[in-house]
Amino acid sequence: VRRVDRAGEVDALEREISAILADRTGRECLVVPSGRVALYLALRCWLSPGDRILMSPVNDDVIFFVALAAGLRPVMAPLSTEDGNIVPEAVPEATWRSLSGVLTTNLYGLPDRVADLRARCDRLGIPLIEDAAHAIETEVGAQPIGTFGAATAFSLSKHVAARGGGVLVFADATRRPELERLRDELTIGRTRRRQLADIVEPPVRRLVRDLHLVRPARRARRLLGLDERERYRMPLHAPLLRDAIAAANGALSRNGTDGTGNELDRFDPWVRVDLAAYRTSLRPLHLRRIVTRLRMLASDRARRIEGVRRLRELDVVAPRVREGAARPLFRVPLLVEHRDAVRDELERRGIAIGYLYDPPLDDYAGPRFAEPSVSPDAARWWAKCVLPVDPLDAGRVLDALARVRPRPAPAMQPGR
Ligand SMILES: Cc1ncc(COP(=O)(O)O)c(C=O)c1O
Repeated sequence: VRRVDRAGEVDALEREISAILADRTGRECLVVPSGRVALYLALRCWLSPGDRILMSPVNDDVIFFVALAAGLRPVMAPLSTEDGNIVPEAVPEATWRSLSGVLTTNLYGLPDRVADLRARCDRLGIPLIEDAAHAIETEVGAQPIGTFGAATAFSLSKHVAARGGGVLVFADATRRPELERLRDELTIGRTRRRQLADIVEPPVRRLVRDLHLVRPARRARRLLGLDERERYRMPLHAPLLRDAIAAANGALSRNGTDGTGNELDRFDPWVRVDLAAYRTSLRPLHLRRIVTRLRMLASDRARRIEGVRRLRELDVVAPRVREGAARPLFRVPLLVEHRDAVRDELERRGIAIGYLYDPPLDDYAGPRFAEPSVSPDAARWWAKCVLPVDPLDAGRVLDALARVRPRPAPAMQPGR
């Protein structure tokens, strides 16, 4: 009886989460265990194994591995130094004609050039897939990010800060049965180890934050071999990756869209990084927290905008942040000289800086796994100089920056 009650409660809470996102986007919504699973479902259902997808080289490496797990060939796009997002007109015509889809990033909540990308995708008859992990509060004109493409992945670990949970938003309701089937095949139950981790992790995280132990905690993780990343990217493990791609492509081409979530198993070592429970079913407590925090987004929005307004007075802020009315960004990108030293200084003062995607994916993975950008300079420059800071923490960040006094990043040198 308890299990039935629990299933009923999970259903009701998922309906509530869907209703909030449907209210924002006017679209179909499917609650999933994480943003990366939402993206995997979108890529599996709107594209086919072997397809070439245009994406930004400045995105989370996890997303790159999700694209590989879906059997796709990631094609790296040229970026803008103004906002670190894709410049559609800098993609050569021949490349455009070779694509089967486009994936946006909406880096730190700054919108991609979605109207232009959508128009180009329509002309070519290919889907636009939106990664809105950073952009749950972003609009273009009055239209929310997440309503421009065929499908959108939202992460509930960013603005909503729920550590897990995602929503796939899509326009075509006839896709729902296929998406629900794949989601159910991918989702796994909570192991005892996971249950224990759910109890232990939150208070430890709070303690680390409250006692300003960000740096010692990072050092301890590294010493214990628990850190999954070397600086900002995870180790590639090229031979293992090559085998995983070959095995998954074989299975995907045999089964087509009837394949199961098992193809994702092979990519687990890469896709699980930073969120080991990325495929684990969400429990009622977690879902209730998501509902509460989603309802708070509107009041957070004013605080976020205020933080962005204060931070964009800095001379080191990325140019796009200064344009128009202040937006409720996930992070405010600053572009600074000696970024790594500035980051270390901020961490020493208890300010954690995450979401750094350096080096660009084509430099990180090489041409075997990622088709290189035709003009990689802007992506390299941006990845090396950007320092994304949290607008909800603007007061502390501004105090720390007043002491550290970073200089603006030197202008980009083409070819370096
Ligand atoms: C740009 C971007 N997209 C997608 C994701 C994946 O979201 P999740 O952690 O909910 O799987 C992340 C996670 O950090 C991200 O930064």
